[in-house]
Amino acid sequence: MTANTSSIIDERFGSAERFRTLRGIRQEAQCRLSAEQWNFLHSGTGDETTLARNTRAFDEILWNTPLFAGVSSPNTGSRLFGHELSLPLLVAPFGGDAEFHPEGHLAAGRAAQRTGIMQMVPVASSFTLEEVAASSQCPKLFQMTLVGEVSACVELADRARQAGYERIVATYSPLRQWRERLMEDAFVPRVSMQRNFSEGGTAAQRATLEELVSFTAPRWSWQQVQSFIRECDLPVMVKGVQSPRDAEAALAAGADSLYVSNYGGRTVDRTPASIEVLPEVRAAAGPEVPIVLDSGIRRGSDIAAALALGADAVAAGRLIALGLAAAGEEGVVRTVELLRDELWTTLGHLGCSSVEELSSEVLYCRP
Ligand SMILES: Cc1cc2nc3c(=O)[nH]c(=O)nc-3n(C[C@H](O)[C@H](O)[C@H](O)COP(=O)(O)O)c2cc1C
Repeated sequence: MTANTSSIIDERFGSAERFRTLRGIRQEAQCRLSAEQWNFLHSGTGDETTLARNTRAFDEILWNTPLFAGVSSPNTGSRLFGHELSLPLLVAPFGGDAEFHPEGHLAAGRAAQRTGIMQMVPVASSFTLEEVAASSQCPKLFQMTLVGEVSACVELADRARQAGYERIVATYSPLRQWRERLMEDAFVPRVSMQRNFSEGGTAAQRATLEELVSFTAPRWSWQQVQSFIRECDLPVMVKGVQSPRDAEAALAAGADSLYVSNYGGRTVDRTPASIEVLPEVRAAAGPEVPIVLDSGIRRGSDIAAALALGADAVAAGRLIALGLAAAGEEGVVRTVELLRDELWTTLGHLGCSSVEELSSEVLYCRP
């Protein structure tokens, strides 16, 4: 994209400074997206009970606030995978990014760099993994669905390593998801896994693509995951962990970190909220294993709640996409700034001078 095109896009998307709240960003995004794009972003599966539960579970977490705790300006900074972050936040990997802004993950990566957070880039991005890697300097993780031949997955992970990604986020998807809003709208998002597989991809990777889009062959078992992790030159975080059983299986297969997620309620309905299962996953994983959580993060106070319950960091999907839709790179920068400021004020009111001080002690337990 030329500088000229970029400035036309900036003009069209306007300045983000006018956004004073996350609610304002959401309203602007809704004005800019079509009804079908809005539904694509917000859809869950089935009756969307998990989607609703993800945010309701956060709403039900109450604080135990102290008086005269002596905290003036809390530090929102944290450390993850050897990086200093301005707050414990990652951009979640979401496909179809060009539906929300023409520069999609390119813009999200630049915003992540400017605000000091990490980015996870999906195989289903509208841009190739190399294009996203080259567009910014923030630390990046590459999300790939484990499917097809182990050797083809290892090849793709190696491509990601060569492009500068530091870690693989391994996901699993046994069958096509039942998303009624998309079915009713007959909406086919511009999700372009084709780009990552056909541009620079080998024959084995193209076969993987076929498998990925048509859901034909039986899916992977933990045994194949173990082979993949053994052969992969990057550390692997397993996404979609929702139980102690899967936490233990992922660690036994060689994962060095866990990603507690129900994909924002987009895989199968009637699963628990991620935040509900977090404490038992943390207990199973032990205190040292890094845990990232997503699904339902809407405010800085949600970040504080997730850390108090055992996460090391959180990821945001829809919030970041809303920032993109409202004002591209600037909209994502503003979204992250507002999340940081909300986290800052939450920490202060909880009597915590840093995120490390968040623990179950800040939670209110009904007598
Ligand atoms: C539009 C959209 C596309 C997504 N695509 C992917 C994807 O390609 N790969 C993936 O691992 N997760 C995908 N996700 C799930 C997100 O990574 C993340 O788990 C989810 O958005 C977290 O919930 P939240 O939206 O409440 O923050 C997608 C989410 C959305 C909203």
